[in-house]
Formats: sequence, structure tokens, C-alpha cells
Amino acid sequence: MSVALAAGRQGDVTGRVSAFAPARVNLIGDHTDYTGGLACPMAVDLGTTVTLDPGGDAVRLVSDATGTAADVPLDVADVASVTPPWARYVAGVVALLRPPAGGTGVVASTVPLGAGLSSSASLELAVALALGFAGTPLDLARLGQAAEHLATGTPTGLLDQVASACGRAGHAMVVDFTTLDVDHVPLPDGVEVVVVDSGQRRELATTAYAERRAQCAAAADLIGPLATATEADAESLADPVLRRRARHVVTENARVRAFATALRAGDAVEAGRLMLASHASLATDFEVSVPALDGRVGELRQTPGVYGARMTGGGFGGCVVALTEPGAVRAGWHVRAVAGAARLVP
Ligand code: GLA
Repeated sequence: MSVALAAGRQGDVTGRVSAFAPARVNLIGDHTDYTGGLACPMAVDLGTTVTLDPGGDAVRLVSDATGTAADVPLDVADVASVTPPWARYVAGVVALLRPPAGGTGVVASTVPLGAGLSSSASLELAVALALGFAGTPLDLARLGQAAEHLATGTPTGLLDQVASACGRAGHAMVVDFTTLDVDHVPLPDGVEVVVVDSGQRRELATTAYAERRAQCAAAADLIGPLATATEADAESLADPVLRRRARHVVTENARVRAFATALRAGDAVEAGRLMLASHASLATDFEVSVPALDGRVGELRQTPGVYGARMTGGGFGGCVVALTEPGAVRAGWHVRAVAGAARLVP
């Protein structure tokens, strides 16, 4: 998003404002967004609340989780060098939004940091709304993604921000990253979504993510857009690494479609089977899993009442997500699907 495009989107901001943006869990469809593919995330009842008293020429926010402060001048230029590191997400939003006034306030988060539940996307969106952003949910998502790129330099897709911006209570959503259509799908009664931390913090994620993205682009140069490629197209690739990467993306898109059909039919058994197949594809063909994630998925699939489980998000650590009968799994966060990011006050 260009600065010019972002300018002028601010609404009227007077008096204390407060905004909440949810974290997300991706039920299926990972490493598909940046090739225009499909994913099925949901916004969850963990998230970030930003409360702000507008005014002044800087955005000053204290994090209740760390006790540290972000102090970002409205004319911030070098976003990636702002400290502490979490303040870079605030700085990215400020640099793109260029609000007419700053503010002083607090960031309160219930998202486990660095666990792969998009704590950064929820921070970006809550900050933007608190600073007066007034566009569509998709515009908000694009702003958050652009801020993330400025903050981290990692060429992430739009999954995390769309999930946070476009949530609906009781629903997952199928997102088509070519058209940006968002199709909400009700979660069947009598299933629980449980997120279990692998305990491994995400390492090498930046380098490996950019490498995977480049490999998908190289495959698409040879066989056309992966979003419309067939399995036969993927198998025709001579390079074994590109072949595996393309095969993951093509089969994952098909699994997202089948998963949505299964959810609509209330078929949790089939949905769980697809989640396990997705994990295997991410581990074997896309090579973004790690033993800690494989181990959690292996334990969960042996647990009575678990329909399926898979790593969720970028991989190399973070969390797994399981679809279960109520009460089947005690550990982890039992998350509910909630509405998307919104201003709470005023
Ligand atoms: C990270 C990125 C997303 C997406 C996932 C993998 O969460 O931020 O854009 O690519 O990895 O699906």
C-alpha cells in the first residue's frame, strides 16, 4: 500500500478510543495465500486491545505483557530499526497511516507472543483502528500486511490480517487470495477447536519463508499460477524440490475446498482427515514442520475424540490446531470463532 493511498483514511478521533483485533488460527490451507490460493482460518477469542488518548506528535503505547513502551514519532521513517522490536509493528502502521495526531495509551494482549497465532497482525490492526483508520476490513488487512512488511522485511501473505479483519462469530472463512472473496462457513455444533503450543519458538522462519515463497514463484514461472495448476502440472516439474512445493500448494487448495464442504455437511471426521493430510503435505512436500510439531500432531491423532490435527501458520515451531469432540483435549487454548477487528470505544 502506498502512503498516498493510505492518507486521508482517518476518521474523526476525539476523546479516548479503544480497539480490539483478534488473533487467528488457520484450520487448513497453509503456504497458499502468497500464490493466490485458498485458506480456511478463523478469528479467535484471543487478541490485542489498544486504548489510546489521542493527541501529540507521537504514538506512545505501553505493553501490559512486557512493561516496555513504543514511542513512535508521527514522521517515523526507518520502521525496521525502531526498538523494542514489537514497536516496529506500531511504527509500520504509523508510517503508512500518517494520522493527524498521535496518542498515549496501553496495549493489552491475550495472544501468546511468537506462538504463530498472529499476535503481530492483531497488534497492527488494533493500532490502526485506534488511530482512526476508517476503511473496509480488506483495506485494513492490506494496511496491516504492508506494516508487517515494513516491520519485519519478511514477504508474508495476507492470511493473518484477513482472518483478523474479517472474522464472524461461530464461523471459519474460506479466503480466495486471487479474488479476495471471503466466504464464511459455520462451524458445526459439537466440535471444539483446540490450539496446542509445540513449545518451540519459530526459528529460521524469515529465511525459510522467503525461500519457500521464491520456490513457489519459480514453479509458477514454469507451469503457470499455482492457484489454477493441476496435480499433473506439478508432477511435470523436473526439479524435485519445485515439484514437491507445487504439489503441496495444489493439493492443499483442493483440501481447503473439501474441508469447507465437510464443515458445511457437519462431517467432522472428514474435516479431521483432511487436516492430517494437510500436516503430512506441509511436513513432507513443503518441509516447514519440525519434530516438535510432528510430535504434537502424532499425540493428538492418538487421542480419543480428536478428529484431526495439523501445524498451523508458517511452521518451524509455533502451534498445532486440532478439531475435537467437546472435552477430548484438556491442554491448550479452546478457542471460539469471533467477529473481526473493530473499534470498541467510541
Ligand atoms: C504466516 C504468514 C501468512 C501465511 C502463513 C502460512 O503466518 O504471515 O501470510 O503465508 O504463514 O500459511
